[in-house]
Amino acid sequence: MRYLSGIQPTGRLHLGNYFGMIRPAVELQAKGEAYYFLADYHALTGATEPGQLPGLVHETYLDLIACGVDPERAVVFRQSAVPEVHELAWYLSTVTPMGLLERCHSYKDKVARGLAPSHGLFAYPVLMAADILLYDADRVPVGQDQKQHLEVARDIAGKFNERYGPVWKLPESVIREDAGVVLGVDGQKMSKSYGNTLEIFAPEKDLRKKIMGIKTDSTPIEAPKAVEGSVLWGLVRLMGTEAERAEYRAKMEKGGTGYGDLKKILADLVLQEFCEMRKRREELEADPARLKRWMRQGAEKARHTADQVLARVRSAVGINKS
Ligand code: ADP
Ligand code: TRP
Repeated sequence: MRYLSGIQPTGRLHLGNYFGMIRPAVELQAKGEAYYFLADYHALTGATEPGQLPGLVHETYLDLIACGVDPERAVVFRQSAVPEVHELAWYLSTVTPMGLLERCHSYKDKVARGLAPSHGLFAYPVLMAADILLYDADRVPVGQDQKQHLEVARDIAGKFNERYGPVWKLPESVIREDAGVVLGVDGQKMSKSYGNTLEIFAPEKDLRKKIMGIKTDSTPIEAPKAVEGSVLWGLVRLMGTEAERAEYRAKMEKGGTGYGDLKKILADLVLQEFCEMRKRREELEADPARLKRWMRQGAEKARHTADQVLARVRSAVGINKS
């Protein structure tokens, strides 16, 4: 079984990324072959400044490894280490119906939020399909918001097979329903682009401050607090021990504990959950030579797989380089 996933290096990783994608990816790397990459070409469709990209790639790489993605076990690389992904994206785009892309929520949402409606943004799902197919991935662990993109990738692979024969197995998404959509401090989906994130590796003081600033309703201290749908419970349910979760839930349901205290407990839980990872990140940061070696190793392995798959695709479409 081959697992693959990607994440855009557009900002420091947050709890939504962790519970939605990174934690499942870390669990899966022990169960089969895993390919995890930093989607730096994709990042160009957003608002990232060119000068910021190399630093963001570096920071996101460190974040991922500190969270448990293991470069000795998984193939961890940056997307641009294998630029041939664009060649595959082109072949795929020739069989991609316009209507398929026109239906994508992500494009519409991003444009509605003010991103320039570029062709790159529109064609994003085709490049994403190429990311997945170039490495013959079977399963793709992603957060719920990427579900439609996975369906598009399968549709594109299916169209390609209809035209050229059985070149691809259809990849399947792995979506952890238990993580759902993690909410940010303002109650919307936690996302780098909404500025409402809790960053895993933010300094303790900042993280506590952000948690204390989570938007809550005006339920008085003595009254029971709404549990389901609340930002606080949405995070607590994903962390700690069963006993800690039960105790927290009881505190919300019973009343008598104010939001300030509930937030303090949440902050302690978050810091406890990520304590080891935060230490590990500091250790990793102190050894840039090791990071470089891992990056190179990941790029070589990714390229090796991609070369084999591309040879198969070129032969199918009749583009034979000799
Ligand atoms: P962002 O919205 O912050 O830019 P990305 O689009 O880079 O995050 O997402 C990277 C991965 O993390 C994807 O698999 C995505 O589904 C997952 N993810 C992002 N935000 C959340 C969230 N709030 N809840 C659950 N999963 C999330
Ligand atoms: N679109 C994904 C996101 O924004 C990132 C991504 C790019 C990806 N290519 C991928 C995820 C391939 C899984 C597989 O989160």
